[in-house]
Amino acid sequence: MTVQNKIKILILDDEKQFTEELHEFFVKSGFQTFESNSWQAAQQILSEQAIDLLILDVQLPGENGIELLKEVKKQYADIEVIVVSAYGDMETVIQAIRFGAFDYLRKPFRHIDIQITIERTQKFIQLRQKLERTEEQYSLISKSLEDKIDRQFIGVSDQIQEVLEKAITASNYPDTNVLITGESGTGKENIARIIQGLSSRKNKMFCAVNSSAISESLWESEFFGHKKGAFTGAINDKIGLFELCNGGTLFLDEIADMPYNLQAKILRTSEEKIIVRVGDHTEIYTDFRIISATNHDIFKRVEEKAFRHDLLHRLNTLHIHISPLRERPEDIKPLLIYFVDFFANKFNKREFDISDDTISFLMKYAFPGNVRELRNMAERAIIHTKNNKLTLKDFPVLNHTVKVNNHHDDDLNLKMQEINLIQKALLNSQYVETTTAETLGISRDALIRKMKKYNIILRKAIL
Ligand SMILES: Nc1ncnc2c1ncn2[C@@H]1O[C@H](COP(=O)(O)OP(=O)(O)OP(=O)(O)O)[C@@H](O)[C@H]1O
Ligand SMILES: [Mg+2]
Repeated sequence: MTVQNKIKILILDDEKQFTEELHEFFVKSGFQTFESNSWQAAQQILSEQAIDLLILDVQLPGENGIELLKEVKKQYADIEVIVVSAYGDMETVIQAIRFGAFDYLRKPFRHIDIQITIERTQKFIQLRQKLERTEEQYSLISKSLEDKIDRQFIGVSDQIQEVLEKAITASNYPDTNVLITGESGTGKENIARIIQGLSSRKNKMFCAVNSSAISESLWESEFFGHKKGAFTGAINDKIGLFELCNGGTLFLDEIADMPYNLQAKILRTSEEKIIVRVGDHTEIYTDFRIISATNHDIFKRVEEKAFRHDLLHRLNTLHIHISPLRERPEDIKPLLIYFVDFFANKFNKREFDISDDTISFLMKYAFPGNVRELRNMAERAIIHTKNNKLTLKDFPVLNHTVKVNNHHDDDLNLKMQEINLIQKALLNSQYVETTTAETLGISRDALIRKMKKYNIILRKAIL
């Protein structure tokens, strides 16, 4: 044969004469070949060599050939198997093909038969390996892109330093479950990806699932997968999330919203790590770590009996809480600079300066949408601005947001007082300008001028 990158073959048959003969034939044909006369001997070789093809006699004394085939396919999914059976045993052959054998040979066979079969198998294995290499290349490209985007976690506050320290600890314990809590937009998913990216699981899948978004009826098949024909609509075999993230991380977002009766199933699977696809019997071991996140008070949910205590216990072996941005105003400036740079780069714009009063103003803003809101503000500012210095007017904020931080900057405090008063009056009058002006004791025109000056907008901006 003239094929390059020859595959590695293992022969398993109790007839020594048969294995020797085949071995000699394969070696002559240029294959790296191993022979074994018992399952034990074969197992040894399988564990030591990266075998591509197993030639398996399904009538080994004392063994069930089909079970051996299943075992091999389970442990070494990439190995192709050609089964060898006696004439007349069509039943076994059909079963073997059903359980994933690539082809079969019936004894006694001629060398030309085996040659054709091997060439076909070799071609198939090479194509598959090529496909895998291509996929790997693509996933590596997208991974390195992914690494560049949003992998930085910015912050100088003690709270963020603590979050990062805990994330590093979590990455060093890749089998320990982690619960991340914090308000919406504080960066929970970011931290989950950072943990995965720093851990030994980094080259495996990170499957992010919104626990509340999967309907109960589809839940089983989403998480466990199914066999073709398991139910109406199951037109193909499907791998579930538990299997998909084998070796990697299952990120369960919005965990507090997970329907109650599904919680028990997550608990059991996270303990046993064994799944059976819907409509199948084969047990599959899958090794994943769960990182879950929520912006609700999950401990209260447990008290209210809406969330299982035992599951929470299982999920929060490590607990990371991310404080809201308003409780760590010192992070606002570095975050703003980071996002402004990020979007200037993204939109191919020049560098930007940011005026001091913009920073002081934002440091007193409550950021109900947390870092996500700041990020969106920066993006909008970069898109709209015509100058190379960003000023207050580039950062319109929600008119109903109360600022909570008390900073002692006299010049600005006066301004902030005025903004707060206007906002409060607007809120009380349900954003009717004339009523607001009356409350404040000024004319409507004066109110409009002030609102313009301070960039207070009437519409409810979208975070
Ligand atoms: N400290 C940070 N440094 C850089 N980017 C951050 C930081 N915190 C959050 N972000 C960014 O803010 C945005 C929101 O973060 P993320 O989606 O992780 O929030 P979340 O806590 O999962 O929110 P939700 O509860 O709404 O799902 C993302 O674009 C994220 O990259
Ligand atoms: Mg999120």
